[in-house]
Amino acid sequence: MNKKLSAFGLSILILALLVATALGFLMGLSHPLPWISLALLGGVVYLHSQSQKKNYLVWKEEYSVGIEAIDNDHKKLLSLINQLQTASTNYTGVDFERSALDELVNYTKYHFVREEKLLEENGYPGFEPHKKEHEAMVAEVMDKVSHYESNEDQTIDELLVYLKQWLINHISGTDQQYSSFLRDKGVR
Ligand SMILES: [Fe+2]
Repeated sequence: MNKKLSAFGLSILILALLVATALGFLMGLSHPLPWISLALLGGVVYLHSQSQKKNYLVWKEEYSVGIEAIDNDHKKLLSLINQLQTASTNYTGVDFERSALDELVNYTKYHFVREEKLLEENGYPGFEPHKKEHEAMVAEVMDKVSHYESNEDQTIDELLVYLKQWLINHISGTDQQYSSFLRDKGVR
């Protein structure tokens, strides 16, 4: 179902339950209607919040590469993806969504530069393929972003799926490979 349509349907349902609750209380506290509609309202809100939770990324200690600045960057990237998820889910408007997207793209590039500098300076043997993985990701993201103006919803949905999968795979896989190498060099 179209996201805007389902959000509209949810708003109508909540509004209807609120009205039923208010009208029910006018019938008296002993009437079952307000309590039933109040329970339904709580159930709808709870189920909706639970269904949204799975769309958000949560930092896990297993993602840590043991280098504080890099871990902080990765945490920041997770939170920026979650911010974009919120913008998409809650229809905060195109301006906020676009700025959340730009902030995420810019911070990703900034982080890659920082990480690559660290790898190159310390003579990491896997530097070139690692850098190429970053470049391929940025190219893919920029290609998807170029479709934003013509199809905002689909672009953001595709980007969110891609970014979540890529980032988690990258920080729990490729980035882990340099962890002990850099730590052996004294990088913390
Ligand atoms: Fe990386």
